[in-house]
Amino acid sequence: MTPAEIAAKDRLIVALDLPSLDAAEAMIARLGDSVTFYKIGYQLAYAGGLPLIGKLADKGKKVFADLKLHDIGNTVMRGVESVAKLGASFLTVHAYPQTMKGAVEGRGHASLKILAVTVLTSYNDDDLHAAGYRLGVSELVEARAQQAQVLGVDGLVCSPEEVGALRKLVGHQMNLVTPGIRPAGAASGDQKRIMTPGRAIAAGADYLVVGRPVVEAADPKAVAEAIQAEIAQALGS
Ligand code: C5P
Repeated sequence: MTPAEIAAKDRLIVALDLPSLDAAEAMIARLGDSVTFYKIGYQLAYAGGLPLIGKLADKGKKVFADLKLHDIGNTVMRGVESVAKLGASFLTVHAYPQTMKGAVEGRGHASLKILAVTVLTSYNDDDLHAAGYRLGVSELVEARAQQAQVLGVDGLVCSPEEVGALRKLVGHQMNLVTPGIRPAGAASGDQKRIMTPGRAIAAGADYLVVGRPVVEAADPKAVAEAIQAEIAQALGS
């Protein structure tokens, strides 16, 4: 399926940033048929959440394993082989060449898509210099996006502000997945560079990751459906 063919409803990925399997399962039950794609990150994965990947896949849902792997290429390759068997649809790795190469080898012909995290969105130019880098954020994001594409990585995680430039750089074959999304009027939390769902889709994002505005809402299902409606409107579908 090319990015242009993804249904509006399937472009919302709800981040299950919750402390336990019970809390995650209760949220999934509340969201019911409305949400088709979930993200499991560090908090839930290390609190017994990994088996949820297979359970959700068995129910026809898709799962983004946001595990942000980074190690020597061989270790990443073997780790990715294991994640592919869990039934995840997306997996993040940090955008270092050896790591991305190992991840693409580990994915092989599995349906799992590898997403590269170019530069963490909490980093600015000073943080990169403090970590020993010569390039600033925008140059490093672009350099790593191009390396990711050459190495056969399937998509990129990027801030909504980077989507437009990255879409021009990598074309339409790579999936662009964007956190930092806030429906108009929602609290920004610790996200600094935020965009509404409609604007992020119009800028070229394929998938939107939304956590707190959905899982902390009084009516999570209503918020999720409103975001999906805004996505559909932005797509003109
Ligand atoms: O609650 P909120 O909508 O801000 O959640 C966004 C999700 O996307 C969180 O799970 C967060 O870890 C993740 N994320 C992010 N920025 C990135 C990569 C992932 O906010 N650059």
